[in-house]
Amino acid sequence: MEVIICPDAERVGRVAAAKAAKLAAAVGPKVVLGVATGSSPVQTFAELARLSRDGELDLSQASAFALDEYVGIAPGHPESYHEIIRKTVTEPMGLDPARVHVPDGFADDLAAACRDYEAAIVAAGGVDIQFLGVGTNGHIGFNEPTSSLTSRTRIKTLAERTRQDNARFFDSIDQVPRHCLTQGLGTIMDARSVILVATGATKAHAIAQVVEGPITAMFPGSVLQLHQHATIVVDEAAAAEL
Ligand code: GLP
Repeated sequence: MEVIICPDAERVGRVAAAKAAKLAAAVGPKVVLGVATGSSPVQTFAELARLSRDGELDLSQASAFALDEYVGIAPGHPESYHEIIRKTVTEPMGLDPARVHVPDGFADDLAAACRDYEAAIVAAGGVDIQFLGVGTNGHIGFNEPTSSLTSRTRIKTLAERTRQDNARFFDSIDQVPRHCLTQGLGTIMDARSVILVATGATKAHAIAQVVEGPITAMFPGSVLQLHQHATIVVDEAAAAEL
């Protein structure tokens, strides 16, 4: 696990994007990105979009797989991860929308949607570069504490802490969904490279657990200690407990 500590959030975005761009260039234009929602990777994605616009990175044939989606929120809802990925990844990076995939949390058969999602990742050749944030309770994707370290894409119940953390995006906590579909920890671990970004003091405990804590399902991000090519990019505030 490589840990890079940057002076501020802006540089976290630039360093993470530069790392990703180097990896993507080595793979070639058909690179498969694993993309995350949340505020953490927004600057990284904006920088990748700039590199793509400036012709420094060829994403013309790239595809992308999102980590997760709420259950029961229509794809056009402003807080659906379909919509957030469209705004933060697909449009700014100029990706072909047909090659951008988000789990279908509005499907009639959610279990089948999860199986189909896993199959689509395999059919695309697997994820080359997986971007991650981390929840204050250690979740990656929506793999809440107690998630199996070998889990695959499935339905999960959101932890109360996660619902509270995400309530800021909704009018009230009652509107925050209770369930989600998320790639599993096993799915995430299959990515060839992983880049986790975190900024701010609220992530300091989570980063210390991910990097230095015991590997435990009670702190799901700690599984990344077992990944061969994991990079953690943080600002000084998020590194404060290392
Ligand atoms: C969300 C997402 C995660 C994200 C995390 C942290 O609920 N499902 O993929 O990494 O929580 O979000 P943020 O980056 O806004 O702190």
